[in-house]
Amino acid sequence: MLLAGKKVVVVGGSSGIGLAAAEMARREGADVIIASRNVERLDKVAEKLNAIAIPADVTSDDSVANLFHRCGPVDHVVVTAAQLCTGSFKAVAMEDVRATMEGKFWGAWRVAREAEIRPGGSLTLVSGFLSVRPRPNSAIVSAANGALESLARALALELAPVRVNAVSPGVIDTPIRAAMPEEARRDMLAKTAAALPVGRVGAAEDIARQISAFMANGFATGSIVYIDGGALVI
Ligand SMILES: NC(=O)c1ccc[n+]([C@@H]2O[C@H](COP(=O)([O-])OP(=O)(O)OC[C@H]3O[C@@H](n4cnc5c(N)ncnc54)[C@H](OP(=O)(O)O)[C@@H]3O)[C@@H](O)[C@H]2O)c1
Repeated sequence: MLLAGKKVVVVGGSSGIGLAAAEMARREGADVIIASRNVERLDKVAEKLNAIAIPADVTSDDSVANLFHRCGPVDHVVVTAAQLCTGSFKAVAMEDVRATMEGKFWGAWRVAREAEIRPGGSLTLVSGFLSVRPRPNSAIVSAANGALESLARALALELAPVRVNAVSPGVIDTPIRAAMPEEARRDMLAKTAAALPVGRVGAAEDIARQISAFMANGFATGSIVYIDGGALVI
């Protein structure tokens, strides 16, 4: 088992990619702590995984400080927490775009500052392929993802010997689109799948596999890996 005896924290571990990363780390023998805001959902998932649940909100300095105070020294940290507000550039409200950066970018920043990661351990950020393949109505997400990828490279230097990497997913079928009308969601996923060389959209496990690889591979730092089903070559 690749992570036997290691302590892994997944911030955003109650759903989607974070949940798959937490499950995989458990299967690889790690002790896992998951953190997110909705306590009921967090506790339910933690019980199922036999993991520890610590409620936290990455938009709050105090909450993130409290999380890592409770965790103590750890081996690997993964940040998947994000809640995105998008819209057309001219129309989207400033409070919405600020909220997107507050969670996705500053959230990861706070985690990187507060986590006490043992030498040789790792921090994995999750960005998104819109950083390099923008789409209309998502400028703030492209900007947040691009900033996260730059941050991962900068922190690979500044936090060494802790290793810092980012995985940049393409379209992954997770609860992140739960608010979309079901038919529109299915239609969008089917069209995306048909356009991709792999003929399908991603599953959370596809990204979790890369997160696991970053944890286990002691030579990986400053890497940005795009796992997108070929979205960048079409
Ligand atoms: N799914 C995709 O197609 C896709 C593509 C590219 C990039 N990504 C990126 O991958 C990451 C994970 O996405 P996902 O699809 O796994 O989303 P998801 O299923 O919605 O999971 C998001 C997780 O983050 C937690 N979270 C959200 N805001 C938080 C906050 N302020 N503080 C603490 N926890 C918070 C959520 O729990 P609570 O709500 O209970 O806090 C949940 O556990 C995101 O950064 C997303 O932008 C996803």
